[in-house]
Amino acid sequence: MTDSPEPVDDAPTGGLSKRRGRPGRPLVVMKDVNKHFGDLHVLREINLTIHEGEVVVVIGPSGSGKSTLCRTINRLETVESGTITIDGQPLPEEGKGLAKLRAEVGMVFQSFNLFAHKTILENVTLGPIKVRNTKKSQAESRAKELLERVGVAHQAAKYPAQLSGGQQQRVAIARSLAMEPKVMLFDEPTSALDPEMINEVLDVMIDLADGGMTMVVVTHEMGFARRAADRVVFMADGEIVEQAEPEEFFTNPQSNRAKDFLGKILTH
Ligand SMILES: Nc1ncnc2c1ncn2[C@@H]1O[C@H](COP(=O)(O)OP(=O)(O)OP(=O)(O)O)[C@@H](O)[C@H]1O
Ligand SMILES: [Mg+2]
Repeated sequence: MTDSPEPVDDAPTGGLSKRRGRPGRPLVVMKDVNKHFGDLHVLREINLTIHEGEVVVVIGPSGSGKSTLCRTINRLETVESGTITIDGQPLPEEGKGLAKLRAEVGMVFQSFNLFAHKTILENVTLGPIKVRNTKKSQAESRAKELLERVGVAHQAAKYPAQLSGGQQQRVAIARSLAMEPKVMLFDEPTSALDPEMINEVLDVMIDLADGGMTMVVVTHEMGFARRAADRVVFMADGEIVEQAEPEEFFTNPQSNRAKDFLGKILTH
């Protein structure tokens, strides 16, 4: 079945970020990672290294394991074999270490997951105050800066339901940033949004990428991948089938599965 006999286990760009122009240190390292859900082998021998400042877009058909891959990186899912390290440290099992990991590895999902009964400002200050023991006044001034950065500063006193989807998603990004993560994971952050709101969220993500944030982004937004990604990782059936720089991947995919997939999404 497989048309990718070569193991693809290292960054073709050598970890060279578009913005830095030099290789950063390896921040996320997955080695020989396997995971099953029952009989289903959802992650197969995943080898993936993400360097500091690198922006990696993960694409692939539905069910190929993209979300599961992200979820293992901040240990929302456990793995059966293989290792995952963040900045040289193995993922903690539980307790305080796990809370610290979640702070270091920010995650933004398709649905906005804001606390409905807290204001926008409170949503952003909660983590720093509870997990980082930041003083309230300091957490608030930092939160205001971040809300400004994502373009929703004037909404700080409102509740999530009073904001548009695009605004809520930008707040979710600000909330993750408030924890000063080393890496940010985005799992289809724009796919629940009305079309006119997609760009406002992508613009914030491009700004983050340009600012040097290390990012793993599951998305089918080709424009974003072309503009912001250093590397596209293509997954199918739980495997990394191929990876390349965006232009190379989109114009010259190597495997039949990638060709087939691109043919489908580009005609829609
Ligand atoms: N908690 C779970 N229990 C059982 N099976 C699961 C669970 N989560 C995911 N799966 C299965 O694992 C496979 C990979 O799922 P995953 O959500 O990682 O795919 P995906 O690439 O993110 O797909 P999509 O593009 O639809 O979001 C799918 O077949 C899915 O049905
Ligand atoms: Mg998914």
